[in-house]
Amino acid sequence: MKDTSYQGRNIVLIGFMGAGKTSLGKAVSKMLGVPFLDTDELIEQSEGMTISEIFEKKGEVCFRSLETETVRALADREGGFVLSVGGGLPLREENRPLLHKAGCVVYLQVSIDTLEKRLGDDTKRPLLHQGEGTLREKIARILAQREPLYLEAADVVVVNEHKTFREAAEEVAALAQALPKADPPEGV
Ligand code: S3P
Repeated sequence: MKDTSYQGRNIVLIGFMGAGKTSLGKAVSKMLGVPFLDTDELIEQSEGMTISEIFEKKGEVCFRSLETETVRALADREGGFVLSVGGGLPLREENRPLLHKAGCVVYLQVSIDTLEKRLGDDTKRPLLHQGEGTLREKIARILAQREPLYLEAADVVVVNEHKTFREAAEEVAALAQALPKADPPEGV
C-alpha cells in the first residue's frame, strides 16, 4: 500500500564519493520515518554483482546506463523516501531533471582534505584505483570537473563537515520537512 503519512518532500543526496551520502541518508530516513534507497545498492542487487565487478566485467558506460535506468524508475516511485545516488550520477545531463522529479536535491559538500581522510582506505570505488597520481590528486582532479555540475543539479547545498553527524542529519531532515511536496518539472 502507498505510504501517505509523510507529507514533506523526498530528499535526494548527491555529492562526491565519501561525502557521507549513505550514512547521513540512513540517519535522515530514520528521523523522517521513510525508507532509505541507494542507487548503487539497487544496481548491485539487480545485477547480482558489486560495483567493482560491474566496472570490470561490463565497463563504466554500462554502469552509467544502469544508473540512468535506476533513477528513472525512482523518479516515478510513489511515497516518501530518502535517496542517495552514486557520485557520478548527476553528471549525465538526462539524469538531472530525473533527480529533481524524485525530490529536493541536496548537495553534500565536503573539502578535499576531508575526502582524502575518508577515502584513504577505500577498496570499493574503481575510479579511485585507476589513472595517474596520488589519491589526493585524483580527488582534486575529479572534484574540479564535477563541482560545477553538483552545484547546477542542487536545490540546496549542505556542508557536511565541522559539525556533528547528528547536526548534519537534522539540518537535512529539517529541510525535507519544510518543503511541501512539489509538482515535477515539466517535460520529464
Ligand atoms: C562513483 C561513485 C560511487 C559508485 C561508483 C562510481 C563515482 O558511489 O557509484 O564507484 O563516479 O563517483 P558513491 O558516491 O556512493 O561512493
